[in-house]
Amino acid sequence: MKARHVSSLCVYAALAMPFAAGAAGIGSVVTFTRDIGPIFQKNCQSCHHPGTSAPMSLVTYLDARPWAKSIKQKVVTRDMPPWHLDKTVGIRQYKNDRSLSDQEIATIVRWVDAGAPEGNPADMPPPLSFSPDSEWYIGKPDLLVTTDNDFVMYAKGPDWWIDQFADIKLDEDRWIKAMEIKPSNPRIVHHAVANVIEPDAPPGTPPGGVQLHEYAVGKYGDIFAENTGRLLKKGTRLRFDMHYFAVGSEQHNRTTIAFKFYPKGFVPKYQVRSVAIRNIPNDELEIPPNSVVRTDGYYRLTRNARIDAFQPHMHMRGRAMTLEAINLDNTTTILSSVDHFNFNWHINYIYADDVAPLLPAGTVLHMIGIHDNTAANPHNPDPAVWAGFGERSVDDMLQVWLNIVYLDDPEFNRLVEERKARQGVSPGQLTARRSQ
Ligand code: HEC
Repeated sequence: MKARHVSSLCVYAALAMPFAAGAAGIGSVVTFTRDIGPIFQKNCQSCHHPGTSAPMSLVTYLDARPWAKSIKQKVVTRDMPPWHLDKTVGIRQYKNDRSLSDQEIATIVRWVDAGAPEGNPADMPPPLSFSPDSEWYIGKPDLLVTTDNDFVMYAKGPDWWIDQFADIKLDEDRWIKAMEIKPSNPRIVHHAVANVIEPDAPPGTPPGGVQLHEYAVGKYGDIFAENTGRLLKKGTRLRFDMHYFAVGSEQHNRTTIAFKFYPKGFVPKYQVRSVAIRNIPNDELEIPPNSVVRTDGYYRLTRNARIDAFQPHMHMRGRAMTLEAINLDNTTTILSSVDHFNFNWHINYIYADDVAPLLPAGTVLHMIGIHDNTAANPHNPDPAVWAGFGERSVDDMLQVWLNIVYLDDPEFNRLVEERKARQGVSPGQLTARRSQ
């Protein structure tokens, strides 16, 4: 999907003027049926329809009307749809971009400010149909792997984090083409991160395994780029790092991961790896009480790389994270920057094929994290206490997960030349190029 970019200055100008140009045109009344319905269908209803874990449906006028005030607030702050990038810097095109354009936000604001009128029912676009929850977004899976035990979540109490395990039963190694995680009871599952514990993992691999795939509300699997895959080894054990929350009654859950494989014997040309960059050592993360702290992490690429996806990981005090490339000529290029991180949403930002950064060996990836341990951070469990690295969500973290494809010199040069020819730009500009 192509993200439209308007400078942030325009956002505020548009929001400040009640009759700024919106989809409905200058001066005309914005109605639900004509103007808002199509936006909600495109950007909201995949999560906000009956039967999902979202707090309400946004399918009909009657569904949406009581939420008008809250909708205005959430779209203006860009908390909804969940997409927490600063859209004014770095790479602009992402395969899974579900954000609203500045104009769409202005249209929603005008609608709410005008009293959220319904309009003519005949203007309403035909309703969308949603595939039943039992269907897999990635298509018919070749293999399903479900956690060993039924987890019982209490009715009331704090959130709960727990590891659950499952063995993968394969006769031989297989290349993953697509994968998707689904909890049996999405109402209580905040996130599920599947990690692979491989039988022959090299020394230094964390005992809890290496991240394979992550599920959070509204995430519908990963389908790798063409001829790109990830190896799933025979004898692998999966560790699901689960985050549950209580919903008022006792609930049960099992989590399943579905795989689609490349045909037996087919080896995809590009192998994706999940690489975590941290500020090493972790105990350097020091977040004193009542303070906002910047922490940096570096990762030198020892091989040429294509970066396919960027996913920041922090906890409740996390506020922002920027990833930039320190190029061989010592210039820097911002790749992506999340400016309003929200621990409730773990979003993997997947670069569009034409802009996925191509970085030569020797490039240093630089991660800049901001933690906000003040009372101004609404997610902060306690601004009066010191925080450092730890697994509990009341501790904190600073790491970024990248989907990286390593490329040998001929292949790297070929991809750079190909892109240059397509875009008419020099390789140095490739990552910095902005959408029009
Ligand atoms: C990826 C799934 C997803 C998408 C897309 C999405 N939402 Fe949400 N929304 C949620 C979930 C889950 C919650 C509750 C948790 C939270 O607030 O983070 C929520 C919460 C909200 C709330 C707060 C409700 C309350 O309790 O006060 C509003 C308002 C809202 N969404 C509006 C929207 C609008 C408008 C859109 C589209 C422009 C949208 N959402 C798109 C999943 C989504």
